[in-house]
Amino acid sequence: MIKQTLSFVKGLLICASLMELMTIKEFVAKRKQELRDELKSLPRVPHLCIIRVGDDPASEAYVKGKSKDAMEVGFYCDVIVLPSDTSEAGLLSLIREKNLDKEIDGILVQLPLPKGISTKAINDTIAPEKDVDGFVLNSHFIPCTPKGIVSYLQEEGFLFAGKNAVVLGRSQIVGIPMARLLLSLDCDVTVLHSKTSDEDRKFYLKHADLVVSAIGKMGYLNESYEFKKDAILVDVGINRDENGKLHGDFVPSLPVKMQTPVPGGVGLLTRLALLENLLEATKNELLRRK
Ligand code: GUN
Repeated sequence: MIKQTLSFVKGLLICASLMELMTIKEFVAKRKQELRDELKSLPRVPHLCIIRVGDDPASEAYVKGKSKDAMEVGFYCDVIVLPSDTSEAGLLSLIREKNLDKEIDGILVQLPLPKGISTKAINDTIAPEKDVDGFVLNSHFIPCTPKGIVSYLQEEGFLFAGKNAVVLGRSQIVGIPMARLLLSLDCDVTVLHSKTSDEDRKFYLKHADLVVSAIGKMGYLNESYEFKKDAILVDVGINRDENGKLHGDFVPSLPVKMQTPVPGGVGLLTRLALLENLLEATKNELLRRK
């Protein structure tokens, strides 16, 4: 009996450790298949409208990735590209038109916008029920990067309640909503930023169970910082070196339990969360029309 129990427990431990090995790529592939299956039960195909202004190469690449993902799963996705001399009034009028368009479930305006167009004015105009980015005031959605990170960690069995979570960076699109979401999951949350002293940064990182970095400084978090050996490091940094190669905020292979890669990490989770928000927007709209 004892032998059987031990072998059962051993089996559970093996399963748990195998579950831990699910990479972000595998998780995203699994969730995309679930989204494809869920689409089959909808009376119509969800429709995303992406607006990009100007010719920033990084924005062009991000938008390509988002529309590729959307179409791969079976959503409709229009990409509207406007010239960099587009006026704020012109962009606002296009957004108002898309807000009223019953065919469109989600609107995304890729950031950053060219000088002369206020991001706040844009975010004040996108209808909260179509704001699949989760950026606008009273948006019906959780911002994509925090949402994607949390859903992956939940799948991995990470228990948030009572954990020390440290967020580096206080941007409106990642740091602040990430901290808010972790707080809602009962983490003890500390937000560090450019004015934090190095001594304090070292202290908080040393005691963190979960670190989310979104500071955009290549390899800034290196071996000079001490981490818990079972810490989880989530790298939101996307930094390009002089050869165009991508690197995160953390140097790779730190001695911790898990560290997300760059590339092939958080970017994929953000894109997945966008599709999840779009599906939710469509389902909400179908319910409203019932
Ligand atoms: N620019 C960088 N990340 C994002 C994002 O998640 N959404 C939008 N709209 N622009 C971005």
